[in-house]
Amino acid sequence: MPTSPATTLLLFGATGDLAQRMLLPSLYGLAADGLLPQDLRIFGTARSPLDEAGFRAAAAEALHRHIDAERLSAEAVDAFLRRLHYVALDASEPAQFARLADAVGAHGGLAIFLSTAPSLFRATIEGLRSAGLSEGAVRLALEKPLGSDLASSREINDAVAAAFPEARTFRIDHYLGKETVQNLLALRFGNSLFEPMWNAAGIDHVQITVSETVGLEGRAGYYDGSGALRDMVQNHMLQLLALVAMEPPAQFDAGAVRDEKVKVFRSLRPIDRRSILASTVTGQYGPGAVAGAPVPGYADELGAPSLTETFVALKAHVDNWRWKGVPFYLRTGKRLPERRTEIFIQFKGVPHSIFASRGATVEPNKLVIGLQPEENIRLLMMAKQPGLDRDGIRLREVPLDLGLANAFADTRRRIAYERLLLDLVEGDPTLFVRRDEVEAQWEWIDAIRDGWAANNVVPKGYAAGTWGPSAAIALTERDGVSWHE
Ligand code: BG6
Repeated sequence: MPTSPATTLLLFGATGDLAQRMLLPSLYGLAADGLLPQDLRIFGTARSPLDEAGFRAAAAEALHRHIDAERLSAEAVDAFLRRLHYVALDASEPAQFARLADAVGAHGGLAIFLSTAPSLFRATIEGLRSAGLSEGAVRLALEKPLGSDLASSREINDAVAAAFPEARTFRIDHYLGKETVQNLLALRFGNSLFEPMWNAAGIDHVQITVSETVGLEGRAGYYDGSGALRDMVQNHMLQLLALVAMEPPAQFDAGAVRDEKVKVFRSLRPIDRRSILASTVTGQYGPGAVAGAPVPGYADELGAPSLTETFVALKAHVDNWRWKGVPFYLRTGKRLPERRTEIFIQFKGVPHSIFASRGATVEPNKLVIGLQPEENIRLLMMAKQPGLDRDGIRLREVPLDLGLANAFADTRRRIAYERLLLDLVEGDPTLFVRRDEVEAQWEWIDAIRDGWAANNVVPKGYAAGTWGPSAAIALTERDGVSWHE
């Protein structure tokens, strides 16, 4: 496994949205804190006919637009910009890569980040290979979408594997770079309290919600061909599910963690043509209001009618000993009432309530792991309401709060790409997705899409600013479960 830090970083798609919003600001953050190798050079490539000065000027503008002013010092910005170089390149033309190789010259290790349209992956990889930019200590990182189904994902993986062995392939799921997502591992495996109950005997059900208030965000070309299932569930939500459901890995290392996650993906019960209607709900937002402001419906934003789902809710099962009979309810959508990423664990209730004869109800314990926008963990416990209880005992849920924002107030929360880019440069693949994981994820997702097609499922309408179609509520209520709101 390559472990020496790269000396050169190649950024494909360097003028694109992700590079401007996330990658360049992240690299600046790392450089300003002295975390990048001192001599690391960063080469941007894209089709735009910029020269080095033009690229540096565009990068400076991106930093000023996307980083808080108090984190920008003129000195650090200058030092960062001096690392940047640019080679204009049409990645669909493998012959042009010789120029890139010339510009890069001798290097002691390369890290390459593809943030381009997947349609360019194959030609880019071929270009890198033919220019000798794939041999030796060269690592390749790929941004999603890594395919749109199992077959296309395999094609991409095969094309990558022809030039880069798996150990040097870094597939990005930016959720794995989020501090709070890794905190889930700390919560589960850094505490002895939860693990004995973290199974079908102790847990009634799990809910994972990723709700967004944004709509199409000018990404019609990509999003309309994708939809919520492929955009959010196939990758981010299944990764969250795996971290909740996996067995304890022996080490926090790439092999052990990914081995355990892939076992979860392979244990997911297929949702097939027969179970699809009872297990999934899809929706598409219509006009409505989010945070008090009126917003148009999806089709209006798109400018055409569409059958793409902007909301999906589903009920999954992990068929193994630990999770026998425990539903995992997942929901995600655009234009929902609030931005919230949350994992909600409902434990089993007490086996017998000694308070029933005194008129008190006992609620099962719940663990709410808030990932976004705030990082917090709350355990809801039953406590007695103060009083003399002349009319019976009253119990009430009281939260035991782990306010991470306060506990670590003096630590800056890094954006996910800071960690992922540093891991790429340093060669640690633990937080990247392995081929077998991504293919197992697609296999499960493909069956759902096949079920929708076979049953002519079309998304139900919901007004923007609501929690999706009412059928999503019925999905859980049938099991006597309410979504946590
Ligand atoms: C991306 C999806 O992968 O994740 C977007 O393509 C989505 O549609 C985004 O908005 C959500 O990421 P985050 O970090 O804002 O939760």
